[in-house]
Amino acid sequence: MLSKNVNSKLNEQIKHEAEASQIYLGMAVWSDIEALGGASEFFYAQSEEEREHMLKIVRFVSGVGGEAVIPSTSTPPAKYKSLKDALEKALMNEKNVTASINKLTSLALTEKDHASYNFLQWFVNEQLEEEQQIQSILTRFELIGEEGMAIHSIDKMMEEMASKSVEKPT
Ligand code: FEO
Repeated sequence: MLSKNVNSKLNEQIKHEAEASQIYLGMAVWSDIEALGGASEFFYAQSEEEREHMLKIVRFVSGVGGEAVIPSTSTPPAKYKSLKDALEKALMNEKNVTASINKLTSLALTEKDHASYNFLQWFVNEQLEEEQQIQSILTRFELIGEEGMAIHSIDKMMEEMASKSVEKPT
């Protein structure tokens, strides 16, 4: 059984994941408009993953007798200055989600809620992977710049990442 406190923080996390899904969806649509097909596929895949993260928490809360609250979400940004700008914002969002997961994990440990603590380990690892993935694209920008063929090459890289993430189990 979840404590009120852990239940409430898990519900906050459900909202963070839902917001993350919407933000990535906005990035996917923006990328489509900019004719960045690979980036668009990458962001669509990320949006799906975040929705799955949200569902994972909803199912966990319900499964342990808690009360999952389905949140409303705000309208995500529709415009970015560049692909690099979108990725920098994506990384910043992921870092915020990581901080929130870490706080929640610490709370579960403090409350000796080992079921939640154990459940949250998956998210700790997932956040690490997601941050590393976005950072690796940003590093590519530093290496090859942002002009002409560089954008094409990064768009291709993101397309390959998207196809791998579709195969990844959640
Ligand atoms: Fe599920 Fe990347 O936050």
